[in-house]
Amino acid sequence: MSKEMTRRALLASAGMGAALGLAGAREASGADNASVLIVGVSCSPRKGKSTATAMAAALEAAQGVSPRIVTELIDLGGLVIHGSDGSSSTGGSAAAADDFNEHVLPAFESPNLGGIMIGSPSYYRSLSALCKAFLERLAILREPVLRLADIPVGAMGVGSYRNGGQELVIDQILTAMLCHEVLVVGGKPRAHQGATLWNGFGDDDITRDELGMESARNLGMRVAEAALKLKG
Ligand SMILES: Cc1cc2nc3c(=O)[nH]c(=O)nc-3n(C[C@H](O)[C@H](O)[C@H](O)COP(=O)(O)O)c2cc1C
Repeated sequence: MSKEMTRRALLASAGMGAALGLAGAREASGADNASVLIVGVSCSPRKGKSTATAMAAALEAAQGVSPRIVTELIDLGGLVIHGSDGSSSTGGSAAAADDFNEHVLPAFESPNLGGIMIGSPSYYRSLSALCKAFLERLAILREPVLRLADIPVGAMGVGSYRNGGQELVIDQILTAMLCHEVLVVGGKPRAHQGATLWNGFGDDDITRDELGMESARNLGMRVAEAALKLKG
């Protein structure tokens, strides 16, 4: 990873890049019909940490695929997202007073939405509770029609152990998203499953995991390529 790319990824994870991405996304949902929006969601409760940094790098790689690609990083760190309350008619907790409707939903409702990446830290070889809550709330996009149908979706798992459940996390995310009739994608070779990252250096600097960061970029490129193909 070049120094410049690392810097931009870090800026994005710190929120500045997210703001830029948001501007792009807003633009995408407006007049520019040719734009294809790729949304990356970081599901760590720790804002701007390794999952967010890796997701920012994946989005940057996605953006590099074509000038048509615009990106938005949604860092759920610090946001309050309740899980489903079990009510099917509202998609579960749709009226809950939390950050979902304001900070998450608009990007997913954008007519320019072309691809989605979802990343979670591995907690006990499983996705984070925040990620599960977020996934449950996407139920609002299933009725009356499956709004996310045929959207390419890729996943990312981040753990502090080399074999800490990253692939299980990916599997859990993609399994949930299949309930939307999405098109599941992995990454470019060698990230066949998706992005798997190892936060194993004790300093939360995920960019030191070069192999993992490469898998993040490969995920971003694959999702962008698939999105462009499907958007025409
Ligand atoms: C409750 C908890 C459970 C965890 N369980 C695992 C685990 O099973 N496997 C693993 O590799 N890392 C585990 N970790 C470490 C996190 O996955 C790791 O620190 C990750 O980088 C956190 O992502 P973040 O930096 O984006 O917050 C656990 C951390 C916490 C807080």
